Amino acid sequence: MFLFGFDIFRAFSMFMVVYSGLSIGQMLAVFAYLWFMMGPVQEVLNIQYTWSGAKAALDRINDLIRIQLEPEYPHLENPFLNQTTVSIQVTNLSFSYNNGPLILNDLSLSIAPGQKVALVGASGGGKTTFVQILLGLYTPSQGQVCYQGVPISRIGMDIVRDNVATVLQHPILFQDTVRMNLTLGRAITDTKLWEALAIAQLQEVITALPAGLESMLGHNGVRLSGGERQRLAIARMLLTDPKVVILDEATSALDTATENNLHLALRSFLQERTTIIVAHRLSAVRQADRVLVFENGQIAEDGSHNQLLQEGGLYATLYGKQHQASLAISDN
Ligand SMILES: Nc1ncnc2c1ncn2[C@@H]1O[C@H](COP(=O)(O)OP(=O)(O)OP(=O)(O)O)[C@@H](O)[C@H]1O
Ligand SMILES: [Mg+2]
Repeated sequence: MFLFGFDIFRAFSMFMVVYSGLSIGQMLAVFAYLWFMMGPVQEVLNIQYTWSGAKAALDRINDLIRIQLEPEYPHLENPFLNQTTVSIQVTNLSFSYNNGPLILNDLSLSIAPGQKVALVGASGGGKTTFVQILLGLYTPSQGQVCYQGVPISRIGMDIVRDNVATVLQHPILFQDTVRMNLTLGRAITDTKLWEALAIAQLQEVITALPAGLESMLGHNGVRLSGGERQRLAIARMLLTDPKVVILDEATSALDTATENNLHLALRSFLQERTTIIVAHRLSAVRQADRVLVFENGQIAEDGSHNQLLQEGGLYATLYGKQHQASLAISDN
């Protein structure tokens, strides 16, 4: 419309040359003035674009400002100090995402220091959510999590996260070297790195890479297979020397032979540490001394593998067949 108006103005001045005796020179002067006018008019018109752009940006800034920050707890007590490992107590924990259905419903449990606990249950049952609450990534709507009897609100999030290590099913890797992904910038000797890689069954893979520890992994570790990424995340966890270890489906992408070797190699490392293993596969569940079955946001069954098989509840339905199959294989 702006250009249309502009052209009408020019046509009008040409008509005036023909009918009202405007000289050619005056007409050209009118054109020249038009050029001067066009700039500011266009700027005024552009304000609307700038305005809608700024409005979108302002909305996003306001969204950021509205995000609730996680609570900052004071460092009143440190139960991890001078301890090889700690116990975990969870009391009356309830949690739901954004006022949705309750994912955890009045859950209570206690894990002794050094105990190895497997957490099993249907997919979508809330196991990962529970793990994230243990780390303080979500604040429960009711109840609390204690380490060695001290609630997280007295320990401080950063201290909990320094001492409780989690390996997730889809580990996050950085677009950097293998070394950087393992150390995350800390100074750790090569011997220690190779030791951790050996336990994680990754030594041969990294040796085979063209630049060894200095090889780049690509965006989120695309150059590694899913199982190799998981093993790298396990090696990273080993290097942090945590007091409590949580493996959330950490070996789900490994073949059974490698998984077996990994569990064997991890055994002495986990010996002294409280460990929670979230798993679907029997091979991973069998590493634990105690099994907790998650159902409807609560612990439905609690006991050793054999006990739960005998009880014939959900665990027996989930794992009875796998167990018989593994017995049959070992008999042959
Ligand atoms: N960030 C989120 N926002 C809203 N709902 C979520 C979020 N994360 C998970 N959920 C929901 O919470 C429920 C529990 O999810 P969770 O990841 O804890 O299950 P899970 O037991 O770990 O399952 P799986 O065995 O498949 O890993 C699911 O129904 C899921 O849809
Ligand atoms: Mg999960």
